[in-house]
Amino acid sequence: MAAIAYVNGRYRPLREASVNVEDRGFQFGDGIYEVLYVHNHRLADAELHLARMARSLGEISLHLTLSPAALLVIIREVLRRNRVSTGLVYMQITRGAARRDHPFPAVPVRPGIVITARTRPAPPTDIAAWAGAAITLPDERWARRDIKSTNLLPNVLARQKARLAGAYEAILYDAQGYVTEGAASNVWIVDAAGTLRTRPLGQEILPGCTRAAVLQMLHGTGIAFTQTPFTLEALRGAREIFLTSATSFVKPITRLDGVSIGNGHPGPAATELLARYLQHIEAP
Ligand code: PDD
Repeated sequence: MAAIAYVNGRYRPLREASVNVEDRGFQFGDGIYEVLYVHNHRLADAELHLARMARSLGEISLHLTLSPAALLVIIREVLRRNRVSTGLVYMQITRGAARRDHPFPAVPVRPGIVITARTRPAPPTDIAAWAGAAITLPDERWARRDIKSTNLLPNVLARQKARLAGAYEAILYDAQGYVTEGAASNVWIVDAAGTLRTRPLGQEILPGCTRAAVLQMLHGTGIAFTQTPFTLEALRGAREIFLTSATSFVKPITRLDGVSIGNGHPGPAATELLARYLQHIEAP
């Protein structure tokens, strides 16, 4: 069965689907995106993703007349046409096609909308097999990382370095030596004193939807946690490191720059939070 993409109002076979060469997403990265996980036909954290999408659009002054409810209908149709019950939805919205000129088009054009979906294996059941490695790199991205912009060149370069090093993720740090986030995930540690920590929201990191869902489910676990910045040194000395994202769920990092973290195995916090997150996406 040929994959189907939604492109600017039409459902097209992926290999025939195309966007205008003057689309500002292509020309300038002038757009935003979302990635959602769908599990047994249920979209994980859909409201959080749609709310973040609306926020990203607002931050770049991109007005979309399609309502979140209408977008959900299109997403469901893309999933149906691709027969995806468990997998990923990619949604991209750009400022549309106009003669190349940096400022916004004087007469607004229709935003460019692309939605695709693909099947992905069910979430991990064996946390030890799910654990991965990361490398650390300076964060070379722009100053508005809270916007889920399609400008991902620094993220692409960081993730490529991780891949070449045999690692899953690149964990990024700022000029002061504080961890910001992963190239495509949020970062958490259980520090040497046993406290779970993740960086507070701000312009330096993306407000992850999985991060928000995990924060919610921390209440009632008895796990001590705080949203405070932590250094690269604290990362290296952590008992546990794990990542969160729509594609990583809760993913333990047991090797950092080639060195074992903690005892080299997924720790109790990551184990408990992965289990809770998987329950949450089964029955939100
Ligand atoms: N990335 N930080 C960055 C830079 C990200 O790109 C992502 C997600 C996250 C986690 O956000 P969420 O929990 O809402 O997925 C944090 C997606 C998966 C991607 O670009 O493919």
